[in-house]
Amino acid sequence: MFDRIAGVYDVMNSAMTAGMHHRWRARAVDRAELGPGDAALDVCCGTGDLTLELARRVGPGGRVVGSDFAERMLDLAREKQVPAGAAKPIFEWADALELPYDDGGFDAVTVGFGVRNLADLDRGIREMTRVLKPGGRLVVLEITQPARPPLSTFFSIWFDRLVPLIGRAAGDSAAYSYLPESVKRFPSPQGLGEIMDGAGLQGIRWTILAGGIIAIHSGRKPE
Ligand SMILES: C[S@@+](CC[C@H](N)C(=O)[O-])C[C@H]1O[C@@H](n2cnc3c(N)ncnc32)[C@H](O)[C@@H]1O
Repeated sequence: MFDRIAGVYDVMNSAMTAGMHHRWRARAVDRAELGPGDAALDVCCGTGDLTLELARRVGPGGRVVGSDFAERMLDLAREKQVPAGAAKPIFEWADALELPYDDGGFDAVTVGFGVRNLADLDRGIREMTRVLKPGGRLVVLEITQPARPPLSTFFSIWFDRLVPLIGRAAGDSAAYSYLPESVKRFPSPQGLGEIMDGAGLQGIRWTILAGGIIAIHSGRKPE
């Protein structure tokens, strides 16, 4: 599905979020607490926007990998301009449920709007934790459902009706009907926090943004 929608993916993100997704990504990367020279992995990197934000933070002496299993998304990521003063990211194929990286290699692992799509969420979170160095941070940026009106009402109109319509106009109504369905079956912020706890992460906390539709979770691998 992501190979199919790769060509419209960035435009749809900006249309659906009124451009706010860039700010959410920057907030998520803040939580990775990266410094110059660090190593970072962006899982389910898609077209690479979050990966490029990591590359900015670690600077030219850092190491950044973006991995995904949709080749067309990776091709678009590789075409993006790397900002001046950033690390040059490597974009490569990998299944998030079986990451081809050694244990303990990264100071931070991020995943933006990705874990909602995993066939086995627990396994994905465990894999991301495995490749973190002791003391390393896992950051998860994801869509969540607002619990109370009026935002829950707005969310349901926007997601259940308008997003599939915009998706149809963009040529793929199935993909943009899948989006609200995947959000509905995804665990609550508390539930995702418990899964991260089960993977052995510590200091788990989450921030809710955009009136309750976005959650940023973070946790630290024990030293
Ligand atoms: C909604 S996109 C998010 C892309 C990007 N992280 C962003 O912030 O825009 C979800 C991405 O997850 C990828 N994905 C889903 N399941 C995956 C898996 N098991 N392994 C690797 N990538 C996966 C898809 O190919 C897609 O590019």
